[in-house]
Amino acid sequence: MTTTDRRFPPRAVGTPLDRLDGHAKVTGTARYAYEQPVDAPAYLHAVQATVARGRITAIDTEAAEAVPGVLAVLTHHNAPRLADTGDAELAVLQSDAVAFRGQIIGGVVATTSETARYAASLVRTTYDEQPHDTGLRADRDDLYAPEKVNGGYATDTAQGDVEAALAAAAVTVDRTYSTAMYHNNPMEPLTTVACWADGELTLHDSTQGVHMVRSQVAPLFRLETEQVHVVSPHVGGGFGSKGTPHAPVVLAAMAAHLVPGRPVKFALTRQQMFSLAGYRTPTVQRVRLGADRDGRLAALSVDAISQTSRIKEFAEQTAVPSRTMYAAPHRRTTHRVARLDVPVPSWMRAPGECPGMFGAEVAMDELADACGVDPVELRVRNEPETDPESGLPFSSRNLVACLREGARRIGWERRDPTPRARYEEGRLVGLGVAASVYPVLWMPGSSATVRAGADGRYTVSIGAADLGTGTWTALTQIAADALDVPVERVELRIGDTVFPPASVAGGSSGITAWGSAVVHAARRMRESFGESPHEGAEATGETGDNPATERFAMYAFGAQFAEIRVHPETGEVRVPRLVGVFAAGRIVNPKTARSQLIGGMTMGLSMALHEQSYFDDHVGQVANHDFAEYHIATNADVDRIEASWLDEDDPHVNPMGTKGIGEIGIVGTAAAVANAAYNATGVRVRDLPITLDKFL
Ligand code: MOS
Repeated sequence: MTTTDRRFPPRAVGTPLDRLDGHAKVTGTARYAYEQPVDAPAYLHAVQATVARGRITAIDTEAAEAVPGVLAVLTHHNAPRLADTGDAELAVLQSDAVAFRGQIIGGVVATTSETARYAASLVRTTYDEQPHDTGLRADRDDLYAPEKVNGGYATDTAQGDVEAALAAAAVTVDRTYSTAMYHNNPMEPLTTVACWADGELTLHDSTQGVHMVRSQVAPLFRLETEQVHVVSPHVGGGFGSKGTPHAPVVLAAMAAHLVPGRPVKFALTRQQMFSLAGYRTPTVQRVRLGADRDGRLAALSVDAISQTSRIKEFAEQTAVPSRTMYAAPHRRTTHRVARLDVPVPSWMRAPGECPGMFGAEVAMDELADACGVDPVELRVRNEPETDPESGLPFSSRNLVACLREGARRIGWERRDPTPRARYEEGRLVGLGVAASVYPVLWMPGSSATVRAGADGRYTVSIGAADLGTGTWTALTQIAADALDVPVERVELRIGDTVFPPASVAGGSSGITAWGSAVVHAARRMRESFGESPHEGAEATGETGDNPATERFAMYAFGAQFAEIRVHPETGEVRVPRLVGVFAAGRIVNPKTARSQLIGGMTMGLSMALHEQSYFDDHVGQVANHDFAEYHIATNADVDRIEASWLDEDDPHVNPMGTKGIGEIGIVGTAAAVANAAYNATGVRVRDLPITLDKFL
């Protein structure tokens, strides 16, 4: 591997260092937010609305208050008035209005969590219930075009004349695909320990960004940013659910305000995670492709539909990845949204790319089939010279190499293009491919401090987050190389607002943003103090702008291959092998990176085969709101998941050459499985998940 920058010789970077936090985690000494030891904790349990739309006409808390051990019961009558209600999701208990079933309408604080939960069940609420509307359908007449879609992308794009190009095309595909509603379910639910002292608020919060929580919570309580202190050294997964603050952290802070001097502990139950932690909207995607007989695209059109809530807009950027993937002179993408009486959707691992690359990549498979062109070859043929949307050159784009390497690894030459051609051990067997893409997002505004200690040791501080992803380890490796010392001489400090501000662990941007700040701080240390800085010498580095983002389109790419076995009578599906090959810049730690990519692919497999939140439109809530009924993939679904990557040296993305790997692993997996299912059975599944009934 060549180095991106001669001042940044990788030594630790690229080595499979064991997780520095691994021992503490497996021995149970790593403290998660809820486990924070505090004096005389009180416990909070949320009361939730049982109608999907209406007004609270009465809320009777008498029975709850009478339970021994109950310290306070919050409702919209006695809750602290928030100074800022601009974000309606966070405007907890500010009115009698109910905008979705499961919305927080109260909270009980008690001396034990059991008491709080029991007393919460005694709160009696009556409503002026209004008819609710929760069904996302493509034929709704109230779909609207949002101003922007998530990520700040344009809602619609158009270039050339798609309709004419489609009409003139020798081969066309015009299909509608749908993805289900999915719920983020990290092992650790949303949890907070809130404590007020001397007019300041401390939150031990399970979050993807301590500074993000501080800056959003402070104005609600009319506090200066510095008056909110957020601590989060270890996080048990997030997948986007902890990437923005949700209502529970506000309720916890309010509850603590009502019991002065007592810290309040709050954890959502698993069921509550299905209404209060965000989720991935269902999508409907009409994909139209027009090509010549060799499969060269002339036209590419994606019209995506998603839902948002009544109180806050979140518009999934479903069609955005199609803007970058393939060369087609005539292109258009649109996003339309339905505003419904549902919980607030939000980020879930690779919002946009994950659902969007299902429809788009199954459509490519349908085109390959229609043209009689191999699906790998079809993608190679439509490889663009420059980014079709911006016209900019790619800083690096190795999709073709990923496709070739993945084809080699899975044994693509064994694939018979004719569906139902392979029958082995009583199962129909098929192979499928799909591409992965994820942008290299540049988040400015992080800063890091490097402090020289005794004996050539350094302390590196930044308010970054480790969601279980490996930040503790990877950032230490980056710091060690930047300071040109062994990792043993670096002490990293993250997950606390006492450290310099860091951008949120989202958009696969964490290591890129924080690592850049650390590298800059280390360089300043060297420039100012030389090779042997005196004890106490300190330098700070910031993640400023990256001018290269204006000259290059920056993306990670990948190719995913699935082998599938389908029982011809029962439709039962097994996936003996998933192979993912990625080109995601420099890989900081092959061990943690492999886990990240396998984790993404596993979640993609889960999406392909099982995951689906069944929304009951009659009562207005997710019916299968627990792990007994919201099925996720298990070991029995798959034999081998193999993630690998190509060495990629991208000098433009950042000083480390990293592109981010948190999300790309989930992008394209479900399409690869669906395409393999078609190859195995001849049944084209366009609606996820690929459950056995779809083959019957
Ligand atoms: Mo991730 S869904 O960008 O937190």
